[in-house]
Amino acid sequence: MTDMATAASGQAGRLRQQAVDQLLQDGFITCTDVEKAMRTVPREQFAPGAELEEVYAPYDAVITKTDEYGVAVSSVSAPQIQAMMLEQAQLQPGHRVLEIGSGGYNAALISEIVGDAGEVTTVDIDAEVTDRARRFLAGAGYPQVRVVCADADDGVPQYGLYDRIIVTAGAWDIPPGWADNLAEGGRLVVPLRIRNLTRSIAFTKAAGHLAGSDPQVCGFVPMQGSGEHAETLVLVNGTEEIGLRFDDETPADPRLLDNAVRTARVEVWTGVTVAPQELIGTLQLYLATTLPGFCTMAVDPDLDTGLVAPNNPRFSLAAVEGGNFAYLVTRRTPENDVEYGVHAFGPEGEVFAAAVAEHVQAWGREQRGGPGPHIDAYPADTPDGQLPSRHVITKRYSRITFSWPEPDTAQSQDHPIRGQGE
Ligand SMILES: C[S@@+](CC[C@H](N)C(=O)[O-])C[C@H]1O[C@@H](n2cnc3c(N)ncnc32)[C@H](O)[C@@H]1O
Repeated sequence: MTDMATAASGQAGRLRQQAVDQLLQDGFITCTDVEKAMRTVPREQFAPGAELEEVYAPYDAVITKTDEYGVAVSSVSAPQIQAMMLEQAQLQPGHRVLEIGSGGYNAALISEIVGDAGEVTTVDIDAEVTDRARRFLAGAGYPQVRVVCADADDGVPQYGLYDRIIVTAGAWDIPPGWADNLAEGGRLVVPLRIRNLTRSIAFTKAAGHLAGSDPQVCGFVPMQGSGEHAETLVLVNGTEEIGLRFDDETPADPRLLDNAVRTARVEVWTGVTVAPQELIGTLQLYLATTLPGFCTMAVDPDLDTGLVAPNNPRFSLAAVEGGNFAYLVTRRTPENDVEYGVHAFGPEGEVFAAAVAEHVQAWGREQRGGPGPHIDAYPADTPDGQLPSRHVITKRYSRITFSWPEPDTAQSQDHPIRGQGE
């Protein structure tokens, strides 16, 4: 292992300290052991060939491998995401830790934190990645990290139980092998896809289920192998101009949407306003888990005929009901806040726009500024009556439940709803 004084010298060392200072200032590092590890491990040794400024950009990943379409399939994750997930994992010296998705750098950070009494295994499906990770780890002074090439869908049961499992590829589901590979009371930190949103969630192994907390916004390269899951794309007007992306349930009859855009666009404003820098992660999650037919919308800029007018053509929150579809928009208020509105199309566009707006208003009244939901994962065969919430996403192996706080406890007093009813 490298000592801190050596690690701080030279340009790489200076950039490393600056990146850590930035993450401390922005609140992404709060634990001293995570800070110490990030100040110590030479990240540049895990991304040879990349410019040092790129390596130490606090909020950017270094892409290390792309597929035949140029889509990233492996990377050294962004320092901010790594710090956030290491904190979620609540690592302790002596822990046995399994990392799913390798690169070497994050495994070295974990190794620094768990120390000589601990043990780190990192597993990747791609032999090119594991070969590189093994080499980089040895070169940087972490030869004790076990590097395994395998599809990690079943975990690595041959190496015993782990106190922590940290998944570093975007997972659509939680396969049973991960919980089986965890010691009782152990923690699984996983970036889980929830109807097209990705949240890093810290799950604790409890009796018969995984109890989740602390959902954090993040983005990851997708899981490959047996855990791979393709989203469904529904094209609204028969061309690739407007695509609705469904990651879980899909509309019963997408052809009903064929003529939706031929109706006039309905526009309603919700009166729910947020400050420009206010975090709206819980609004996204609230709609994804409580609004039936939730999806996201993407517009191809080369085919855009102006039928729809989203603020962000690549990603808008949207929903479908029968032959109607709607998406969220925003506008600036005279006070320079951001107000949410809804655009809707289809034979019952007005009714649907009002229904979607009501969900935004319910979030504004009941959840804004609150902690967000408790998220639990149960085996896929668990009946509804044994689940703690009616907001459920059923996947292949698991049923994920979202228990939103009761309205009177959810909202902190410093986030009143502004502009309601205006
Ligand atoms: C973001 S990278 C990992 C970053 C790494 N933890 C680091 O140090 O920054 C994600 C990795 O997950 C791997 N991966 C994807 N599906 C996998 C699977 N089923 N089993 C194991 N690894 C997988 C990919 O090959 C890729 O290298």
